[in-house]
Amino acid sequence: TTPILRRLEDLRALRRDWTQKGETLALVPTMGALHAGHLSLVEAAKAACDHVVVTIFVNPKQFNNPEDLANYPRTEHDDAEKLAPYGADAIYVPDPDQIYPEGYATTISLTGVTEVMEGPNRPGHFEGVATVVAKLFLQSGADRAFFGEKDYQQLMVVKRMARDLDIPIEVIGCPTVREASGLAMSSRNMRLSPAAVAVAGQLNPMMEAAAERLRAGEVYAAQEADMRRQLADLGFSEVEYIDLRCAETLCTMERLDRPARMFVAAWLDGVRLIDNIAV
Ligand code: PAJ
Repeated sequence: TTPILRRLEDLRALRRDWTQKGETLALVPTMGALHAGHLSLVEAAKAACDHVVVTIFVNPKQFNNPEDLANYPRTEHDDAEKLAPYGADAIYVPDPDQIYPEGYATTISLTGVTEVMEGPNRPGHFEGVATVVAKLFLQSGADRAFFGEKDYQQLMVVKRMARDLDIPIEVIGCPTVREASGLAMSSRNMRLSPAAVAVAGQLNPMMEAAAERLRAGEVYAAQEADMRRQLADLGFSEVEYIDLRCAETLCTMERLDRPARMFVAAWLDGVRLIDNIAV
């Protein structure tokens, strides 16, 4: 099984040893409750670097909802078992004081990419993400870090943060892993009833169909109205946003004049689902 490290000094000792040998390190940050989406990142990391460290830390600073934090699955034993076949060198599960020691006072906050979609809907979320990810980058001294396109806006935030702070790490985005229905894998899917899973499975095909109509030259506004109607008919209780945005800057777009992504956040069965696709 993969060794578990709980203290920064142990992670640093490993990194020092690898650096002396001129070997590279890839980092895969997670909050645990691992599924095939996370494991695909570990595979990509393994293929790209000599060594892989997976981190598991349920970061309290990025939860804007205390209940969500309390309910977040903590499955360290199962996670370690799932990781075993993937050949990671270590799992870094920092004790909380290794990330936020007594008196901790620093927050990293970004303008721009954090001001849309998930930003206004989850106050403080991206500050929490940027802060913990910056710490994990600096603690590990990794050469590359792997993130899922599932959380596309997060990927953009992390890229911007690393660039702005001159953290010498390459941030790499990996495709979203999906169920056969198209449903993006997420630890939150476990909270859906079987009936809701069937409904949730219709979200991605609906988005792909709208994207296809956009590519065929139809205007976006009509597609958005159509998707809102379909989601209501399917039984989604609330749509937080449906947007067509520039894949680089996350600015809104009216027509397809450069690489774009379509984003949806909506509630079903008391669970908040997000998805995004390339258009
Ligand atoms: P978590 O939700 O555990 O996700 C860890 C990584 O797995 C993220 O990069 C996420 O985008 C990726 N991921 C999740 N579901 C995926 C899927 N279906 N396909 C591909 N990749 C997927 O995101 C976080 O944790 C945290 O915010 C973190 C970055 C660890 C900072 O605390």
